[in-house]
Amino acid sequence: MRLPISETLPGRAGLFSASRHLLGLDGMPRVTLLEILDDAERDLAHLTADRSPRDELRDATVVIAMFEDSTRTRVSFQIAAKRLGATASSFSGSGLSLSKGESLRDTLRIFEANGADVIVVRHPSPGAPAYLADQVGSAVVNAGDGMHEHPTQGLLDLMTLRQAWSGRFTDRRIAIIGDVRHSRVARSAIYGLRTLGTTVTVAGPATLLPAEVERLGCAVAPTVDEAMEGADAVMALRLQRERMDQGLLPSLSEYTRVWGVDAARVRRMRADAVVLHPGPVNRGIELAPDVADGDRSVILDQVANGVAVRCAVLRRAARGPRAGAAHDDSAAGAPALAATARGSR
Ligand code: CP
Repeated sequence: MRLPISETLPGRAGLFSASRHLLGLDGMPRVTLLEILDDAERDLAHLTADRSPRDELRDATVVIAMFEDSTRTRVSFQIAAKRLGATASSFSGSGLSLSKGESLRDTLRIFEANGADVIVVRHPSPGAPAYLADQVGSAVVNAGDGMHEHPTQGLLDLMTLRQAWSGRFTDRRIAIIGDVRHSRVARSAIYGLRTLGTTVTVAGPATLLPAEVERLGCAVAPTVDEAMEGADAVMALRLQRERMDQGLLPSLSEYTRVWGVDAARVRRMRADAVVLHPGPVNRGIELAPDVADGDRSVILDQVANGVAVRCAVLRRAARGPRAGAAHDDSAAGAPALAATARGSR
């Protein structure tokens, strides 16, 4: 199925603020972002202190349908659902009757008829979760749709940065390096970070930068060194090797030399700057192994935060938005949050 983006992507209003669907971070209000991050911090504290399941979602059924490969996202949604006491089922596209000609819409309606309150869906087509949200009564959570968005990854990246940045997103700058054009991870992170007031500088081969990069509110640096100079964080993106077959890249070694994030480039950032990568990491290509495992790396914090974010998202999808509270993301409001963070530094 290939859906034209313009016909399927939702409008900017109402994403997870007025509806239970989570389709993207584009247009998500700042207050909603911060509410989810606050909920996720509480979930993280609970997950860290007490590993026993809760019964908050004991009446809820969560179906996780992955029509594209996943390790981190699938496992963390499964763990989150179980930690909240939900009934959880997980499927990959290859094990379903899609192979016998059943449509995606009919497949999800079967999940709905089986009582799914929340359907988590990853699909290679941009806009597939938005299309499905119109077709089923269950809440739909986008677990990555083609080159469009990966909102729970964006939320866990925001959570990790908030921990590293002592709660303050403003007067901060992050460099996002690599294949921004094809990256749903970068797109969701950029939407969320721009909403929260962070400056985003992107750098990568011209063939791998999106045409609308200025519309996304990003600055473009001509080199990785300039992008990382004085930055508060860097996010290295996975090099999608299939781009080489499409003639968008000359060679792996050339890519690593020109665009790879290594220790010398990390030293260009601020002394307390952190290194993120959404995974899976191509070690030694977009990210040097000593950096991936080094003391600036918060990659494993991202993974741990993924479970907490997905707890917060599943609860909200199953139960609806909670009553909003006032939020303060200034430095003054941060210590309580930072104190609970695994990655705080
Ligand atoms: N970051 C991410 O989406 O990883 P997976 O593809 O393993 O889920």
